[in-house]
Amino acid sequence: MSPTSDLLATALAHTGFHPRLSQQRRLYEAAKAAIHQQRLGAGSKLPSSRDLARDLGIARNTVIAAFEQLAAEGYVISAKGSGTYVADLQAHSASMRGVGAAPQTQVTPRSAKLSRRGQELTSYAAGPQFEIQPFAPGDPDFSSFPFKLWQRLQNRVWREARNDLLDYGQSGGHLPLRQAITEYLRISRSVKVDVEQVMITAGTQQSLDLCAQLLADAGDTAWVEDPCYWGARRVFQARELKLRPITVDSDGMALDESDLATKPRLIYVTPSHQYPTGAVMSLARRRELLDVAVRKEAWILEDDYDSEFRYTGRPLAALQGLDNDDRVLYMGTFSKVLYPGIKVGYLVVPPALIPAFRSALYDLQRPGQLTVQATLTDFITLGHFTTHVRKIRQTYGARRELLRRMLTQALPSNVSISKEESGLHLVVELPDSVDDVALAQRAAALDISVKALSTYYLKPQVRRGLLVGYAYCTPEQITDYGLQLGALIAAEVQA
Ligand SMILES: Cc1ncc(COP(=O)(O)O)c(C=O)c1O
Repeated sequence: MSPTSDLLATALAHTGFHPRLSQQRRLYEAAKAAIHQQRLGAGSKLPSSRDLARDLGIARNTVIAAFEQLAAEGYVISAKGSGTYVADLQAHSASMRGVGAAPQTQVTPRSAKLSRRGQELTSYAAGPQFEIQPFAPGDPDFSSFPFKLWQRLQNRVWREARNDLLDYGQSGGHLPLRQAITEYLRISRSVKVDVEQVMITAGTQQSLDLCAQLLADAGDTAWVEDPCYWGARRVFQARELKLRPITVDSDGMALDESDLATKPRLIYVTPSHQYPTGAVMSLARRRELLDVAVRKEAWILEDDYDSEFRYTGRPLAALQGLDNDDRVLYMGTFSKVLYPGIKVGYLVVPPALIPAFRSALYDLQRPGQLTVQATLTDFITLGHFTTHVRKIRQTYGARRELLRRMLTQALPSNVSISKEESGLHLVVELPDSVDDVALAQRAAALDISVKALSTYYLKPQVRRGLLVGYAYCTPEQITDYGLQLGALIAAEVQA
């Protein structure tokens, strides 16, 4: 593959395109961005349409149409017989200024000097992306959101014209919502909680950030699961904590002697359904972790992000329910059950931390969106939340089984699929010899957005695999893309 094909393949794989964007438009956009950013410099030659089509695994006509669009807009110049070249945009705009009616002021971008932390954070930023593509792990199916019902509940809240709902959120958020969540957590998650302990946050990301700010100082150690949820890792890094990756096995976080020799301030875990492997933390490990937290005076941050999606058996109780020493801060979110953009989550803190967290939440965040919180309260208390969860659980459970079937048909025996019965994605476990990052990129060229398991690890010894989300996909998409993905994996493994 030529460097230009490689550059375009990477841009296609990593740009967050809208799912309905055609392949031609994606290629056009990727090439245009590369030209603007001067990653494709003036005068550089593009591969022939035949070669590029082969390298990207797309139809030649698609490439030709994208080239024609770029040429029509002056980004490339096609010289008959000798190929297609990137145009000199500077010369073009200078000549346009020469002939143009109005003189234009040259805008020179001022160098944006970021802080040391800013530079570090943005150097490995994943950047915003559309999550809603076939098999993107972790996304709920927005199309099942009860729009009409929500609209009705929201209209009712606005009709009441309550001034207090237009204010900032005080005392940890809208009281009726905190009461509804308290009730839900006691019954469904066996959390030991009083309404005073519940704070409404703008989701788990903000809950984690508050914990990192209030409970740890720069340079302190945070134990994190390895592999680990990216969002948590980024928050701790932004707060300049030292991450100690702890191996995860089928019983969850597995501490060894060398881990126990360190002193964490924070311990971040997803015990009900480890993200991303899906392991459930065993009771013995839960007890051990609580003991360790007491001994080391560390805080356990329990991220219970998707426990509503358990397809067989009873829901698992939260780790927090076993805590007799007030070492656990428990957090949940409505991102998965309702929709990510709602940005409403909750944080349950031990009683001794209530005043500190309440005042920090207010001082640092000035929380708001009380009308959304009021609508959500009605959604829960009128029973719609339970109905919605029951409905989507059934839908996702069926999609999960369908995906498993489609993949199993195509996969060779040395590739296994995670067996646990919860969550929004499956993990396809690959032999160590397979480059899962390259495989995910190849899948992206087919419009399939899977994630490579190895990228979630901090330690060098990684397991290879693909995270395949199914909640957002219709059964037709699962059948179609599932077969394509299965065939792609099989070809890679058998190569
Ligand atoms: C492990 C985990 N925790 C939490 C979240 C959600 O966080 P938030 O409430 O900030 O949307 C996600 C979202 O993908 C996640 O994967």
